[in-house]
Amino acid sequence: MIKLILGDITKLKVDAIVNAANAELVPGGGVDGAIRRAAGHELSEACERLGGCPTGEARLTLGFHLPARYVIHTAGPVWQGGDQGEAELLRQCYRSCFKQAMEKDIETIAFPCISTGVYGFPKQKAAAIAIKEMHFFENRFSEIIACCHSEEDRRIYLQVLGK
Ligand code: APR
Repeated sequence: MIKLILGDITKLKVDAIVNAANAELVPGGGVDGAIRRAAGHELSEACERLGGCPTGEARLTLGFHLPARYVIHTAGPVWQGGDQGEAELLRQCYRSCFKQAMEKDIETIAFPCISTGVYGFPKQKAAAIAIKEMHFFENRFSEIIACCHSEEDRRIYLQVLGK
């Protein structure tokens, strides 16, 4: 089941939340800053030990002080106009996260709108990619949550979902 919510991903009691990180896995703003603040310094220490995550790949840590058991960190592509493989890299992000989740028997997973903040990926295009990948993996999980943080994002996702 795909569920759409408007809210703060750090508050969700799910098996795993996804973080829109950078390839160095060093502290950022946006959803990464919110997750690091809520999870505590242990999360940043765990990220440091991982030593990075190439764009399109994903890495797993514990959630530490978060209600979520795990955080799956993925580095999305920076939007550069669309002809640098950005769409395929964003697709890879979702697939890599789902793969990590399946290795850990994660049943419930929540995603932010990867790459659509600081990285500037057009929201509509990104939502279409996100929803397509979520549908592809839908029957492997009991709940896949698309966690929008703005009313605008929620409207776009509703549109893409055909609701
Ligand atoms: N819960 C859910 N979504 C959130 C939250 C939150 N608490 N805070 C922000 N967001 C949303 C933003 O509204 C946006 O839709 O997360 C989405 C992704 O935005 P960014 O966090 O800016 O991520 P991204 O565009 O992938 O850029 C990644 O930003 O923070 C740095 O280190 C990070 O360099 C990396 C870059």
